[in-house]
Amino acid sequence: MADAGVAQSGVVGWRCAVCAATVDIAEPLVFRCPNWTTEDPHHALRIVQHDEPVRIVADDPNPFIAYRPHFAWDSFASAHGLSEADRDALVRSVDADVARVAGTGFVVTPFERAGALSTALGFTVDGGIWIKDETHQVAGSHKARHLMSSLLHLLVAERIGVTPWSTSTRPNLAIASCGNAALAAATLAAAARWPLEVFVPPSASASVVARLAALGAQITTCPRLESDPPGDPCVHRYREAVAGGAIPFSVQGPENAWCLDGGRTLGWELSAQRPDHLFVQVGGGALARCTVGALAQIGPLPKVHAVQTEACAPLARAWKRAIQGEGGIATAPARWSECMTPWEHVGYSAADGILDDETYDWIGVINGIHSSHGAPVIAKEVEILRANELAREHTDIDVSHTGSAGLAGLLAIRDVISNHERVGLIFSGIQR
Ligand SMILES: Cc1ncc(COP(=O)(O)O)c(C=O)c1O
Ligand SMILES: [Zn+2]
Repeated sequence: MADAGVAQSGVVGWRCAVCAATVDIAEPLVFRCPNWTTEDPHHALRIVQHDEPVRIVADDPNPFIAYRPHFAWDSFASAHGLSEADRDALVRSVDADVARVAGTGFVVTPFERAGALSTALGFTVDGGIWIKDETHQVAGSHKARHLMSSLLHLLVAERIGVTPWSTSTRPNLAIASCGNAALAAATLAAAARWPLEVFVPPSASASVVARLAALGAQITTCPRLESDPPGDPCVHRYREAVAGGAIPFSVQGPENAWCLDGGRTLGWELSAQRPDHLFVQVGGGALARCTVGALAQIGPLPKVHAVQTEACAPLARAWKRAIQGEGGIATAPARWSECMTPWEHVGYSAADGILDDETYDWIGVINGIHSSHGAPVIAKEVEILRANELAREHTDIDVSHTGSAGLAGLLAIRDVISNHERVGLIFSGIQR
């Protein structure tokens, strides 16, 4: 698949989990599987890495420097002749622009035992709860990690002259989101001075929309149209924009494979304190998929518990269909339209960032659950609320209900976790 030059790099290319198509890492602007069509959209590229186990290669607070040779964007740049010094300099210069817009550049975030919370939940001193605190990451959540790798790939492609546009004729970046992903996208787009179109639902929070506008994003409100098929109308409008030439700047792997690259930093960082269990909240699924995939690049997986709410649990349903169908997990990707269907009536939850009606990155998540002997968890709304109260009472992290939803999953099955076990959580976003 890769030529001699590429073989020295960490990532050799992409492979589709559904149709097994492969793409060399040197190929620019590969966002989706080459066999993707509007009639056959169920494809999902994954990164093919040859330099595992992944490890820190530079003692630096910025994960995009600390792990640089392991990234797909870095292998892409290397394959096109950019030197290591050029690649480091690019990260540093984008990070400085991000810091000017966001007030902070990218950071390896803390992953520490939460003593008071562990005691409150009855854990002994050898067990307990370890929290990865993403509330101080760029734009207040983990989402910017996914988009930084997307941006770096685009900037490299532009620099080496393989884009059909130039810096002065850039097409819009596009994303469908009304929350943290949109804010991360708008922050990075402003840093790169790249135009961005954001597709938001009519229910989007006025303060988030105002912040997006202040960052210079173009905002399109997307009510459901009579003619819309099932699924999120914002995603439909986003796909139309991409079909019209906009660049996918999405945090959904099947739409924008480059977002998977930077998302892995979470798992790489978590691996320093390998817990017995990982409870991870699931919306579109990129967070769980990247974290679990990256942990698996370093050692045995903790038991993965993918947490959704009663209001919207398409992953738990897909999991059941995947294991019960003919051939089980192994054949699930090929049975995509049977397993993963949009949740028909999305209800209310305070954890509104995980109400995606489809878990777009479901294949990576169910594979992680399966290989770790974990399970999906459906948290009740009282558990979502209680988890956030507990987080506020027993930690000093200003976490949102979406951000603390993993803790709600732990509350839901606390009785089957031993007091001596170590539980990992990701407090993924700040309260707005
Ligand atoms: C704070 C926070 N945590 C978790 C998630 C879920 O991530 P994913 O959609 O990748 O599953 C989101 C998504 O919006 C989020 O904003
Ligand atoms: Zn494919």
